[in-house]
Amino acid sequence: MRTNISTTKLAGFGTTIFAEMSELAARTGSINLGQGFPDTDGPSEVLEAAVEAIRRGVNQYPPGLGDPDLRQAIVEHQRRWYGIELDVDNEVLVTAGATEALAGALLGMLDTGDEVVLFEPIYDSYRAGIALAGATPVPVLLTPQADGRWHFDVSDLSAAVTDRTKILLLNTPHNPTGKVFDRSELEAIAQVAIDHDLIVVTDEVYEHLVFDGGEHIPLATLPGMFERTLTISSGGKTFHTTGWKIGWMTGPAELVKAAKLAKQFLTYVNGAPFQPATAVGLRLGDDYFDGLVSDLQVARDRLADGLERAGFTTYRPDASYFVTVDVRSIGFTGDATDFCRMLPELAGVVAVPASAFYMRPEHGSHLVRFACCKRLDVIDAAVEQLVAAFAQPADGGAMR
Ligand SMILES: Cc1ncc(COP(=O)(O)O)c(C=O)c1O
Repeated sequence: MRTNISTTKLAGFGTTIFAEMSELAARTGSINLGQGFPDTDGPSEVLEAAVEAIRRGVNQYPPGLGDPDLRQAIVEHQRRWYGIELDVDNEVLVTAGATEALAGALLGMLDTGDEVVLFEPIYDSYRAGIALAGATPVPVLLTPQADGRWHFDVSDLSAAVTDRTKILLLNTPHNPTGKVFDRSELEAIAQVAIDHDLIVVTDEVYEHLVFDGGEHIPLATLPGMFERTLTISSGGKTFHTTGWKIGWMTGPAELVKAAKLAKQFLTYVNGAPFQPATAVGLRLGDDYFDGLVSDLQVARDRLADGLERAGFTTYRPDASYFVTVDVRSIGFTGDATDFCRMLPELAGVVAVPASAFYMRPEHGSHLVRFACCKRLDVIDAAVEQLVAAFAQPADGGAMR
């Protein structure tokens, strides 16, 4: 029997740490703050629309580009929030989540030997998509600053670009750091893309989860950028429907066409009844979007305050589902992956080691990511257990 069964393109990719940690949570009965999915249902109008679509017989293959009404709702959404005008028939494509949009873009545009510049820590599916395309990821490091913000050097970005670079892959708001790239950073990124004639793929799945009144700016809105930017998002995070896997890409017709070429052979289409339901979500009023972010901000603060009380140096995110901590601050000097494997026993909580997001794990080997997209009672219980396990007594006695 042959032993070389798996493709060498995915050599080095094992079962994801998210699966390992979720399995650990189930096995040990721990509170799972590992995987980033909400534990409450989204808006009832959206859920009911899916039920109604199934009853009305929307159960067969939808059109290849996606349900026309969802595509129209995406056009309206991009205009309403960002002032972007799109041609519904050529500049919008519905996908099986943002994951398939990313895979379609990478497989549809990259050739063997091409390079993709991206910011590290890196959402895990990017590297797999790049590897399957036979291309090479080139990371630019984001480092946390004393004020909790994550920073990159523009000189590192410029230095990462070579004559083989074809795509610059940006994720804003960013997982796992919760960084929201600001206008001056985006201008610097845009300048590099224009100077080197790069295609930019942006993953904006956390676009509606920006805290403290901050602003998400799509790179495609910067001067000269629409024509070279493919913008990707999905409904999972915004409508608490991560299991529906309804995503989309928008951008100039040539970029959408290239990504569609590969996408059509991945799933062709998916989620027929969830497409009109996601259209209902995209058309919800501002009150829904305001409530979504204000509820999550309360959860972020509850978790971040609790992690600080437990003694962790905590990087409070400006957006997204995740709070990152530095485990060295509680006196743990080993690898954060070992810390996460011990955490169920120490505190009855599961989190994920941020090293999973690094090509150069040494930059993240002390960082751990906790998800805050959970009910407050779940966060409170986790915090209580973490404080009991790690907080130093006020008299400075030994760590338990
Ligand atoms: C940055 C980022 N991109 C994409 C995805 C996947 O999105 P979807 O579930 O729509 O495929 C996630 C999910 O966690 C994510 O964090």
